[in-house]
Amino acid sequence: MSKFHSLKVKEIEKTTADCSVITFDVDEKLIADFAYTQGQYLTMKADINGEEVRRSYSLCSSPLDNEWKVAVKKIEDGKFSTFANDVLKQGDLLDVMPPNGKFFVECEPTKAKNYIAFAAGSGITPILSIIKTHLYKEPNSTFKLFYINQAVSTIILKEEVESLRNVFLGRFEIYHFLTREHRNVELFNGRLSKEKMEIICDKLVDVSELNEAFVCGPNEMIFMVRDFLQSKGMPEKNVHFELFNTSGVAAKKKKRKVDMSKMSQIHIIEGGKTIQFNIPQGSDNILDAGLKQNMDLPFACKGGVCCTCRAMLVEGDIEMEVNYALEPDEVEAGFILTCQAVPLSEKVVVNFDA
Ligand code: FES
Repeated sequence: MSKFHSLKVKEIEKTTADCSVITFDVDEKLIADFAYTQGQYLTMKADINGEEVRRSYSLCSSPLDNEWKVAVKKIEDGKFSTFANDVLKQGDLLDVMPPNGKFFVECEPTKAKNYIAFAAGSGITPILSIIKTHLYKEPNSTFKLFYINQAVSTIILKEEVESLRNVFLGRFEIYHFLTREHRNVELFNGRLSKEKMEIICDKLVDVSELNEAFVCGPNEMIFMVRDFLQSKGMPEKNVHFELFNTSGVAAKKKKRKVDMSKMSQIHIIEGGKTIQFNIPQGSDNILDAGLKQNMDLPFACKGGVCCTCRAMLVEGDIEMEVNYALEPDEVEAGFILTCQAVPLSEKVVVNFDA
């Protein structure tokens, strides 16, 4: 099971006024644990003013770089992002979980594939890792990036993205969209919309020739682009997205009546040990119930988005409130998001070691 490890901050570099790129030093003995695939993320934990705060940030480096870099953009009232930008410094130690996530497809060096990506703001971080890795490992593949920012000065990782275009001239195209600065071509002014997607698919992209699409940004942009590409014939399995946050997700939670007289016996297997306890059926999710038993269980977003809390349902019935992280084949195989899984049977057995 994934555990936190203490990593030293090797370097912090400001890429824009409010965004820091943090590079971690990964000790020789942790290299195997921290091996990653393009598009994966790191979950970090810090004690901020007496409160434990966990956040996940996508790696913007490529596994080919043998580096571990994340870009943390400071957001208003963001506890961790303010800490990372204003307090954290070179040489500090931070608790970091090994890389996780499924926002990627395998590289196929012998194939010539056409990829497309849509990134808004710091959504570029996993996308940059994906683009770089595929272009280096697949010499006949192409990538088109549609990158939305407020203004030129707020484009994080601008130099890294632009320098890739110079390395892969003819195979990598970038289209910048700005929401608060005017550009000469009207298409590139403002946010992405269905109307703009129509123009993009009419003039710049032939959807029938696309193999995979990657989308990362605000949730409404993700769902609009995903639905649009699917409406143009891209199979669901070829449109990959990474949700930024859990906003809008909580609203979809179901209201459930709890019958305090019906109990669920919960068995949680973690780290080779089994802990057993009882809770009223439907009263709490399995992750929170386990944490209340002082179990050291893995989690980050608690919103059904990141997959850090994934475990195997060995026995019993549960209901997941939301699931934005597990693929259909994982659900089919019996995996659940424990932060979303409410027990509904007399006995529920969950294995975090699976
Ligand atoms: S903690 Fe992120 S999906 Fe459960």
